Amino acid sequence: MADGTDQKSSNQMWGGRFASGPSAIMEEINASIGFDKKLYAQDIRGSMAHASMLASKGIISTEDKDKIIEGLNTILSEIEAGTFEFSRKLEDIHMNIEARLATLIGTAAGRLHTARSRNDQVALDFRLWVKEELQKTEGMLTALIAAFLDRAEENADTVMPGFTHLQTAQPVTFGHHCMAYVEMFGRDRARVRHAIEHLDESPIGAAALAGTGYPIDRHMTAKALGFREPTRNSIDTVSDRDFALEFLSIASICATHLSRLAEEIVIWSTPQFGFIRLSDAFSTGSSIMPQKKNPDAAELVRAKTGRINGSLVALLTVMKGLPLAYSKDMQEDKEQVFDSAESLELAIAAMTGMIRDLEVRKDRMRAAAGSGYSTATDLADWLVREAGLPFRDAHHVTGNAVALAEKKGCDLADLSLEELQAIHPDITNGIFDVLSVEASVASRTSFGGTAPSEVRKQIAWWRGRN
Ligand code: ARG
Repeated sequence: MADGTDQKSSNQMWGGRFASGPSAIMEEINASIGFDKKLYAQDIRGSMAHASMLASKGIISTEDKDKIIEGLNTILSEIEAGTFEFSRKLEDIHMNIEARLATLIGTAAGRLHTARSRNDQVALDFRLWVKEELQKTEGMLTALIAAFLDRAEENADTVMPGFTHLQTAQPVTFGHHCMAYVEMFGRDRARVRHAIEHLDESPIGAAALAGTGYPIDRHMTAKALGFREPTRNSIDTVSDRDFALEFLSIASICATHLSRLAEEIVIWSTPQFGFIRLSDAFSTGSSIMPQKKNPDAAELVRAKTGRINGSLVALLTVMKGLPLAYSKDMQEDKEQVFDSAESLELAIAAMTGMIRDLEVRKDRMRAAAGSGYSTATDLADWLVREAGLPFRDAHHVTGNAVALAEKKGCDLADLSLEELQAIHPDITNGIFDVLSVEASVASRTSFGGTAPSEVRKQIAWWRGRN
């Protein structure tokens, strides 16, 4: 035809009631083989389990089952060797594999699709894929947490300024700051583990949406495929994509954590802050400004968050108006998940490398920790503890001391005892013990506080769980 449409042959898998084949545009919008070929291993594994179950229940013969398994093994090696020819006419991975099976083993291939539909088949393949991806993510988060635990241990005593509003607030330790990220990525990993538990039910056997009259054994296929049990409602089974949404929402939260860390790395590595130096392996130079060392890896980790969040919104939007059960809209689930999985893996790996390699500039952190009146709260606390002032009054007196230091252009610890006594007569020499950043940090021994002794306890707790 003039528009390039091949309407001569109808689809060989479902074309029975169609007189002509799809138009070229129809084929293009309908086909998913371009991306769902990624599911080939899961599809073959699922078909093998299904065929074995059919044979053991006497639904197909053992000879047919053996031929099917052998043919599927051949297909697996063809795909892995790169010799398999994927065809867009055959729409998706399921039909590409089944059509090839028919070429290889003849009529027995047609018995494989007994008591199943592509609806439960795709739900199975995709679940298996997401489950494996979650397991991989769990391992990668464990490696990232381990990198942070090492840095935290080395820097349990390294004083740095703690910030609120990105203004110097109170001194903390770099070890404590690292452990904040251990908490975040620890929660991400817990979410990953929950998601694995949630999705650990086998969809195969739900068939198109209503189940099947064949005497299948869904517990058998569930077990063979490593699932805890089969799903309990065939309608929900083929219309549910919660496992994909859960993956994307976990990925979005994790990417958000990675992005906040990336932002800190960008700030800390500026000459103005100078808290860290990135390794050459995780930075780049400028083609025009020879002095520059750019934190490109951190910037790209920060940017990947946009894509991952976008995928979550995209799939939520695809799903939000769908009536039960399966609709072809759901074919749009895979690219979002595949793209996010790739981005998240890369972001976690890059961040793990950066954290492992970065050089901590303790002198710069220490100098910054001492400026900006970061021990003002310690002065106020001293007035409460040693001079019996109510906290509000102590806050006011401290404010006067800060104003004086600001006027003189010095730090609180540089004010003389006379100057401090002029502000409040009860101040004694003991005040200088708390005005140092080391004393300030060491005093914060409350559970979860920044004192090196407390940080070491938290490191030990996490080491026992990583
Ligand atoms: N390629 C489809 C998908 O990814 C497979 C399921 C198609 N089912 C159907 N009844 N058309 O969703």
